[in-house]
Amino acid sequence: MPQFSHPQPEFPPPISYGALKLTSRYHLSPLAGYTNLSFRRIVRQIGGIGLATTDLISADAIVHENVKTLKLIETHPEDRPFAVQIFGRDAKMMVDAAQVLEARGVDSIDINMGCPVAKIAGGGSGAGMMCNTDGTTSLVQKIVEAVKIPISVKMRLGWDSTQLTAPTFAREFEKIGVVAIAIHGRTREQGFSGTVDLSGIRKVAEATELIPVIGNGDVRTVADAARMLSETGCDGVSIGRGALANPWIFRQLSQWEATGEWSPPGSFNDRLELLLRQFSYMQEQWGPDGAIVRFRKMSHWYLKSMRVRPALRHHFQQAKTVEEFNAALATIVEAGPVGGNRTGLLPDMHIPVPSGPVERW
Ligand SMILES: Cc1cc2nc3c(=O)[nH]c(=O)nc-3n(C[C@H](O)[C@H](O)[C@H](O)COP(=O)(O)O)c2cc1C
Repeated sequence: MPQFSHPQPEFPPPISYGALKLTSRYHLSPLAGYTNLSFRRIVRQIGGIGLATTDLISADAIVHENVKTLKLIETHPEDRPFAVQIFGRDAKMMVDAAQVLEARGVDSIDINMGCPVAKIAGGGSGAGMMCNTDGTTSLVQKIVEAVKIPISVKMRLGWDSTQLTAPTFAREFEKIGVVAIAIHGRTREQGFSGTVDLSGIRKVAEATELIPVIGNGDVRTVADAARMLSETGCDGVSIGRGALANPWIFRQLSQWEATGEWSPPGSFNDRLELLLRQFSYMQEQWGPDGAIVRFRKMSHWYLKSMRVRPALRHHFQQAKTVEEFNAALATIVEAGPVGGNRTGLLPDMHIPVPSGPVERW
């Protein structure tokens, strides 16, 4: 298999979230519906990853021990360090949720200040928190003071291009003890449109003195990460959709940082093996029926990246039982990839942008 190479920038020092030392500066960005336990186990087994966070979880639901929510914060010994992302707007609820998570042994908590979805941001949580500097800073401070585990924040550049509040928040958060800032280089108004504003991320990196700033958005390759690091001065990079398309990305980045070179992503056969392994983890957690339904979104990414013909992908998505799942997969294996072979490098897949500017992720 060929090796790939790319010039290395001067890398910043290793990252710590407070007392929590991370072995890599390359993190998995939270993706609701995808960054569940089964996927986190997969990317951790492949290696090279620093922090992986759950999807955003309602503080309210944690405090009220909502049964479905407690499933979302299940973990596994290989899912370490274990970070949970919470959202909410009520200080007491957020503090109580942080204390519940600390008592359950969570290693760090991330506060969501980036979710653009109207249901969340419109109610004043998620990206809505970026519209209220004093109220939000005081809320975050209460959480920091209520627990011993590290608290990080993930935000966007601001609500819209006239209110680019992220650097101000980053400065204030560092003063009150937040341990790291992850910054998606778009505004709430942008949703996922346009390209990531690296100069906006740079302003956030320049606003903090010591705590790490994690640049996020549109990183799909080592070259994209190299650009993020060198043009923004950030300390780490978090990757969302790029990791769904290529779960090997963290290992590739860590290899690149160590040697300047990295090995290729998985082949059709490797991806098939990963798909089956992730599905088995889903079954462990949710049982066969629950796993089939929950795995559909994820299998779409596996099958697209395996270059499976649309008709076969569609057929697979209709599976309602494990028998149908296995039969559809057998047809896929027999057909093999379009425009590649089962053991070699596959053509890159197109990475979709969630539809609608801000209504959906
Ligand atoms: C389907 C989907 C779900 C997402 N869910 C979350 C979430 O739960 N919490 C969060 O902070 N960001 C969430 N995001 C935003 C991502 O973490 C990330 O900031 C964004 O996708 C840009 O990074 P990327 O280009 O590497 O995907 C989501 C994005 C997508 C596409």
